[in-house]
Amino acid sequence: MELVFQAEVDDEARFADCDLVVVADGVNSRFRDKHADHFRPEVDVRPNKFTWMGSTRPLDAFTFIFQDTEWGPFIAHAYQYEAGASTWVFETDPQTFERAGLGAMSEAESARLMEHIFGWFLDGHPVLTNRSIWRSFPMIRNERWVRGNMVLLGDAKASAHFSIGSGTKLAMEDAIALHEALGQERTIDAALTRYETGRREEVEKTQHAADVSLVWFEHVARFWDFDPVQFAFGVMTRAKAITYDNLRLRAPEFVAEVDRTFARQVRARGFDVDADAPTVPMFQPLALRDMVLPNRVVVSPMDMYSAVDGVPTDWHLVHYGSRAVGGAALMFTEMTCPSPEARITLGCAGLWSDEQERAWAKIVDFVHANSAAKFCLQLGHSGRKGATKLMWEGMDRPLETGAWDICSASPIPYFPDSQVPREVTRADMDRITAEFVQAAERGERAGFDMLELHCAHGYLLASFLSPLTNRRSDAYGGSIENRLRYPLEVFDALRAVWPKHKPMSVRISATDWAEGGVTGEDAVAIARAFAEHGVDLVDVSTGQTVREARPIYGRMFQTPFSDQIRNEAQVATMCVGNITSADQVNTILAAGRADLVALARPHLVDPFFTMKAAAWYGVASIHCPPQYQPGRDQIFRNSVRDRADLDDLRLRAKPKTRAELKMEREAASKLAAE
Ligand SMILES: Cc1cc2nc3c(=O)[nH]c(=O)nc-3n(C[C@H](O)[C@H](O)[C@H](O)COP(=O)(O)OP(=O)(O)OC[C@H]3O[C@@H](n4cnc5c(N)ncnc54)[C@H](O)[C@@H]3O)c2cc1C
Ligand SMILES: Cc1cc2nc3c(=O)[nH]c(=O)nc-3n(C[C@H](O)[C@H](O)[C@H](O)COP(=O)(O)O)c2cc1C
Repeated sequence: MELVFQAEVDDEARFADCDLVVVADGVNSRFRDKHADHFRPEVDVRPNKFTWMGSTRPLDAFTFIFQDTEWGPFIAHAYQYEAGASTWVFETDPQTFERAGLGAMSEAESARLMEHIFGWFLDGHPVLTNRSIWRSFPMIRNERWVRGNMVLLGDAKASAHFSIGSGTKLAMEDAIALHEALGQERTIDAALTRYETGRREEVEKTQHAADVSLVWFEHVARFWDFDPVQFAFGVMTRAKAITYDNLRLRAPEFVAEVDRTFARQVRARGFDVDADAPTVPMFQPLALRDMVLPNRVVVSPMDMYSAVDGVPTDWHLVHYGSRAVGGAALMFTEMTCPSPEARITLGCAGLWSDEQERAWAKIVDFVHANSAAKFCLQLGHSGRKGATKLMWEGMDRPLETGAWDICSASPIPYFPDSQVPREVTRADMDRITAEFVQAAERGERAGFDMLELHCAHGYLLASFLSPLTNRRSDAYGGSIENRLRYPLEVFDALRAVWPKHKPMSVRISATDWAEGGVTGEDAVAIARAFAEHGVDLVDVSTGQTVREARPIYGRMFQTPFSDQIRNEAQVATMCVGNITSADQVNTILAAGRADLVALARPHLVDPFFTMKAAAWYGVASIHCPPQYQPGRDQIFRNSVRDRADLDDLRLRAKPKTRAELKMEREAASKLAAE
């Protein structure tokens, strides 16, 4: 075998007779680009600027340093790779880069500037350079990894942002996977197929974590005014791998300080909570106007498709009743419709008649009499998704018989074979607003504690907000101000009749997940507009606007939008979407990504989600109806032991840190010397 080093390769023809060609030529891969039509690379060049330098400053762990300057924030990602030598990657946003004049500086000058900015931490150690130019990070993905006997490996195939420090790991694991595949298969073709199919999911998972992490660093200004402890918790939990519970096992003192910080913020809002030995964030109270919630868990609105002529039935009494006694602080009704035409399906609940009002009042009374839960009425109009089938008969599919005329901001059908909606006229707007107002008045009489206006998921009011469904040329279409006009009009009309002491929220789709639709930035503008009109909470959902949407699902997948809206528009938010554990609820709250956390599907199968979490964290104050007290006592007793067992298991499974391994080695050699 011949090994050749330090040889530039510019033509693949010289490998024509090779069995296998491994293309591992890095992010700027010449051979990937040469065959771009085959590999189909996607290169997403990120806005932030970074440079890779070094220092002699010793470091005992991976260290992030955040430094404010007269030009803006700078970040150092630093780690020691051998005694007396550490890597320092400096990062900043393009505006700060510009203001600091870094574009015009030489390598040496920019190193001196970094020494100046991070001097307090460098402790007299120099910043060293090695072709340290300022660059932008390219996120690289390839639709195909294999072309004949040519295979992409490492950064050429898929890059991962340096903030999660996994690029080399990915490249090494690629090489291992390729080696194993070659050993397992009889032909090169089969081995390359095995490599690509077997490895793709793992690579994409790491890339997704890296994406989330790099976006956090791009938006660091959003968290700049956070308490330092909360800021640090946010950095650590940004990429979802580290959560409240697993950090509590590794660094219990730090998480105790996170809890105290959170409790101090709650105290600053007028609650007399214990800030020295506080409960976990999930069980800290929150007030929206005069409505006080004892914890932060919410039952998200869920259509039951089980009403008869819009009247809630025994099903609803049992459904809402059991979820209310389960311990969540706030429960939403399903989308309740202010008129028969506003319904999505024939099974949707309404609030346009006395009979419906009485049926809702009975459920509200049960909830108030038997639980500590507050009850929020969600009002919405189906728009172009109206006159469709029940969820289990074909979601959003048009009714074959018995359909009524539907309306929307613009006459665009949802499916190509859906009914074409009528474009809403000014007269329609007035009538629909009046119907909403009457439903809200009925809701107040029925005893609801809170009111939500549904402006999400492509229904009537959402159809005004999204440019994909609003093609109007009048004062209600075009600019975001115009698209907001009618939803805000309805909101104002409701706010005017809804009692001042009771809160109101609005549900929005913070992105349409589709080209040309609403983006996170638009959602911030939408949230700001509602906040100016007196909204108390923005319920941050996403999508369901157009059929061609391409959502990116995953754990807590909509939380980044709640984070963006809460911390840019400075309005209280509720997040929702694939949040399934109390650990995730605590992680989201403690990092300041939302004020309330809603769960929909988990509550369908587990009404007692919150009660169980209270037992887990030992929060004795959770309300429990006397009928269920013995069950509550048992789960509280058992949870103490279960939690200790799980902690023990997790601690045993936890890989040892370098410091722990060093201590073990030192102890062993001391023992041997004795
Ligand atoms: C600032 C920064 C910090 C990072 N920190 C970390 C970290 O802490 N931990 C971590 O795991 N990863 C980190 N990474 C990522 C890591 O460096 C890469 O993921 C890793 O080096 C990828 O390995 P690779 O072999 O695919 O590519 P590379 O390391 O880029 O190697 C490609 C090689 O191919 C050579 N080459 C290119 N074209 C030709 C040609 N035509 N002929 C011959 N040779 C050619 C290049 O000279 C180069 O040596 C960081 C990346 C950056 C940008
Ligand atoms: C059966 C069902 C019915 C739903 N009905 C409504 C509804 O009436 N109004 C609404 O705003 N969202 C509705 N949603 C969306 C949920 O409130 C929630 O946003 C979504 O399910 C994501 O949360 P999850 O991952 O916790 O389920 C419904 C969801 C489900 C599963």
